[in-house]
Amino acid sequence: MSGPNLKGVSVLRLVTLLVFAGLVSLTVLYFLSSYQTSCSLSLPKPLQYIDNYFGQDSDSLTDAAEDKPVLLLWFWPENYFFDFSDCKTIYNIDGCHLTDNRSLYDSSDAVLIFHKAISRDLSNLPRSPRPLFQRWIWFHVESPTNTIKIPGLENLFNLTLSYRQDADITVRLRLNTRKKADEQFVIPKKDKLVCWIVSNNAAWTGVGTRNEFYKEFSKHIKVHLFGKAYAKFLDYNEYYPTLASCKFYLSFENSIHKDYITEKLNGPLAVGTVPVVLGPPRKNYEAFVPAESFIHVNDFPDAKTLAEYLLQLDKDETAYRRFFNWRKHLSPTPHLIQKTQEFILPICTACDYIARHRHYKEAHDLYEWYFN
Ligand SMILES: *[C@@H]1O[C@H](CO)[C@@H](O)[C@H](O)[C@H]1NC(C)=O
Ligand SMILES: *[C@@H]1O[C@H](CO)[C@@H](O)[C@H](O)[C@H]1NC(C)=O
Repeated sequence: MSGPNLKGVSVLRLVTLLVFAGLVSLTVLYFLSSYQTSCSLSLPKPLQYIDNYFGQDSDSLTDAAEDKPVLLLWFWPENYFFDFSDCKTIYNIDGCHLTDNRSLYDSSDAVLIFHKAISRDLSNLPRSPRPLFQRWIWFHVESPTNTIKIPGLENLFNLTLSYRQDADITVRLRLNTRKKADEQFVIPKKDKLVCWIVSNNAAWTGVGTRNEFYKEFSKHIKVHLFGKAYAKFLDYNEYYPTLASCKFYLSFENSIHKDYITEKLNGPLAVGTVPVVLGPPRKNYEAFVPAESFIHVNDFPDAKTLAEYLLQLDKDETAYRRFFNWRKHLSPTPHLIQKTQEFILPICTACDYIARHRHYKEAHDLYEWYFN
């Protein structure tokens, strides 16, 4: 009997010891945490105040999940669904609570409304009354040529989301600076001179200018054509390798508007191919990428002269290499290429904006701004 009894006593001792140890560590933790709290409360408070005052990024706003502003995606653009956690995984954007649950409308800080999905009678827009704190974002990434004016939207929104630099929320992948020079870059192996991937060739989208230029240009140089428009469909995983295998890529925009410089430029820059651009003036491109990173069709009096220049560069390795010097201190970011991923960047960019900016704003005369 004594055996089990003794055992009972030692178990009791062990339990007491454990409880005591637990209490001690809890106490220590308590003092540690209250020490930290009092520090963080007393020191950075004025800074937090100033940050909030100017609507800048502030940890105090984004730390706790419940403090994150709610961004309600009213329509799924083109029904291309994705997992909202992609914003964190792909772009490291985590400052808002993204949702597509319309029951959260009344508590949503902002509502992201995809222009192309709005019905002409506006009946599929959120119902009034609009909460006084709530901002509506006009979400449109097409150029004016490819925009249908839906009447009644002129004075409904607070913020604009577009490729334009003067939008409230600009969607664009930028080149990142790097301090430590990258000497590693190797130009990928090339087996083609000029390539062009064309998925859309519908006349109404404004492709007239580029087609006219191409017609003349292709009389003087061979162009490898790919894409839906030429029945040589490229699977998405062939996109970057194909681009990389060409010395030059025709980054021809479908319509010509200020700042309308799309992934057609980003693709070749990302893989190490020289873009030949047709779009807004050279100066506009130079706001985003270095002057020596691309060739502009307007640099030449005509398509024939451009073709001759490319043929000459084909024989002059040193001159060709100069188009990659910028890579030492700048790095491009490849864009997502699957059709269904098209709207991830704009939606995440809106989330990031909402997390950082909370000021009042009205977007008046939307079309006046967009079309003029
Ligand atoms: C949407 O939100 C409401 C209110 O919070 C909740 O009751 C409902 O379950 C949510 N629906 C979905 C599909 O998550
Ligand atoms: C948003 O814009 C609407 C229409 O311009 C305006 O009535 C409303 O006060 C604005 N709200 C906020 C929070 O900016």
